[in-house]
Amino acid sequence: MNRVLVTGGTGYIGSHTVVELMEKGFDVVIIDNLSNSQIEVLDGIAGITGKRPDFEQVDLRDKANTFNVFRKYPDIGSIIHFAAFKAVGESVEKPLEYYHNNINSLIYLLEAMNAFRVNNFVFSSSCTVYGEPDTLPVTENAPIKKASSPYGNTKQICEEILQDALIPNPDFKIISLRYFNPIGAHPSALIGELPVGVPNNLVPFITQTAIGLRDELRVFGNDYNTPDGYGIRDYINVVDLSRAHVIAIERLLENRQKQKFEIFNLGTGKGLSVLEIIQTFERITGKKLKYRVVDRRDGDVEQVYADPSYANNELGWKAEKTLEETLLSAWSWEKYIRSKYNAKG
Ligand code: NAD
Ligand code: WQD
Repeated sequence: MNRVLVTGGTGYIGSHTVVELMEKGFDVVIIDNLSNSQIEVLDGIAGITGKRPDFEQVDLRDKANTFNVFRKYPDIGSIIHFAAFKAVGESVEKPLEYYHNNINSLIYLLEAMNAFRVNNFVFSSSCTVYGEPDTLPVTENAPIKKASSPYGNTKQICEEILQDALIPNPDFKIISLRYFNPIGAHPSALIGELPVGVPNNLVPFITQTAIGLRDELRVFGNDYNTPDGYGIRDYINVVDLSRAHVIAIERLLENRQKQKFEIFNLGTGKGLSVLEIIQTFERITGKKLKYRVVDRRDGDVEQVYADPSYANNELGWKAEKTLEETLLSAWSWEKYIRSKYNAKG
């Protein structure tokens, strides 16, 4: 029962986690419908680990085929559930698609856990559940604020569903990991973040601007009540983040939980401003970034960064990579994918 089902495993964080799991000796099966990722990601994973993970192209909204995966792999002992739609702005345009995908996928997986007696579950949650926090850094006990988008609301609802699902299922064990801002790529540059269309997030927008794919970066506001006026976030390296998932799985499998439902913040504990990110990127790459300050973006919070001490102490996990190496990994990845696409024509 050493196999881990990774939903969304060809996606950004999922693919990096699959690598970390395989390098620790776990068998993996990925479910992904490729709605926001590409099948070539499996080549990248194989290039790093020397082995191709099992892959099932299934939409988790398709209950029958989701159940078939559990039939096909009876050794599934735990699940990491990454698969979801994640674009905040798009969720405002298409709320029902977001509720439908993010919530039904979770419900079918929980039903499958019941039916196939799988008890261990790790959920991808988000710092978005804290909204604009009253105190910084944010601990896991900070109040959940009314979600500012349907996307954020799906994360809140999913966490509630998970807690309710535990009540009649005393064997279930669940860990919810609340990520802050994941950035960067695998140091091999064989996998990374591949946004479809115009990126919403800061770092892919920076690397695409630096490589000439975008004219300029629009910086959303420099009149915040922060030391330099720019918005502040907690940027966490994606490989560091992925390692925490392996530790969470081991904790579940070895019955080391303190409670049946545990929540951990995954961040560095350090808040950095947009300007600091831009300046660091320029310094390490030697490239001048074209950017312009524009109005604040609707729905943005001023500043949010984690208190990761609970994860540090309980999981024995800590963010280790520097901002410099993380931004360099994002840049190496950007150069790699552009050369690949240009070569393909
Ligand atoms: P991603 O879009 O790169 O990966 C998600 C994967 O899930 C994609 O490969 C997509 O094809 C797949 N998927 C979506 N719906 C599916 C369905 N119904 N059936 C099967 N596959 C489906 O996103 P990511 O950045 O890797 O995020 C992974 C998880 O982490 C998500 O749950 C996201 O909400 C959460 N999260 C992400 C961030 C972030 O900034 N990237 C921050 C906090 C939380
Ligand atoms: C970071 C900073 C922007 C783009 C989002 C989701 C959150 C979570 C993580 C999933 C902010 C500024 C950005 C640009 C800019 N995801 N920025 N110009 O908004 O902190 O968090 O991803 O759960 O829920 O909301 O991340 O990368 O979009 O922005 O100035 O073109 O960069 O204003 O200060 P965000 P981001």
